[in-house]
Amino acid sequence: MNVEKVGPVGAEITGIDLSIGNNIPTDKIIEAFLKHSVLIFKNQDLDPISLSKIALIWGQPLIHPVFKGIEGHPEIIQIQNLGEKYHTNAHWHSDVTFEKEPPDVTLLYSLEIPDEGGDTLFSNQYLAYEGLDESLREELENRTAIHSNLGVLILAGGDKKDEKEVEHPVFRTHPASQRKALYITEAFVKGIKGLDSIKSQETLGKLYEHSCDKKYIYRHKWSQGDLVVWDNRCVLHYAEHGYGGKKRTMHRITTAGSKPF
Ligand code: SIN
Repeated sequence: MNVEKVGPVGAEITGIDLSIGNNIPTDKIIEAFLKHSVLIFKNQDLDPISLSKIALIWGQPLIHPVFKGIEGHPEIIQIQNLGEKYHTNAHWHSDVTFEKEPPDVTLLYSLEIPDEGGDTLFSNQYLAYEGLDESLREELENRTAIHSNLGVLILAGGDKKDEKEVEHPVFRTHPASQRKALYITEAFVKGIKGLDSIKSQETLGKLYEHSCDKKYIYRHKWSQGDLVVWDNRCVLHYAEHGYGGKKRTMHRITTAGSKPF
């Protein structure tokens, strides 16, 4: 297995066939994952059974709290944008942060890719934390942010009265590396606890801008058969559109979460 760094976050893994029946060096994969936070495996042939099995390298697959899974595989959601002017995930986020224990890891496998557009961007939130203005970092060191599922509920046609909120630290410690990462998501965060709403929105605005500075970003240009796996505890991602009405079809699995601290 070979590991090649692709940017401020992420590495491409070559020399591995992830389909069932092959010998997979799980320990080496996890070691590379903890070091690079995003792993790219190209030219993989993964049906839903294989994808679910591979996901176990990172943890138990979860059922999405709002979106329904594919037939026979409730743990796999299909992400498909066809004929839309925007991608529903075209915002910087970490997955499902409105849960008490958001998924640690996400696997995204590409089935159909348009000939242009549809890149996914990843931003390194360890570096974003470390690159923060010192006074802002001190001010926010023990603060929490309120995350809500309202946006996703509306998107899925659900009932607003099912909204729920959770509190997570603004800076999250990764349980394996013990490094801190900035942990805020524009789509799900409503405010920073203990700050008045003007100060909270102003601070969040600064954090959002900082968290996706181009010096922290790797841009993934998809090919059919790519599997990309990322660590939601220290990475934000953004699904860019830019392919008009062309087809882009992905299978996504998230794996068991842990309470951010
Ligand atoms: C996601 O935001 O989980 C999906 C990203 C993508 O479709 O590129």
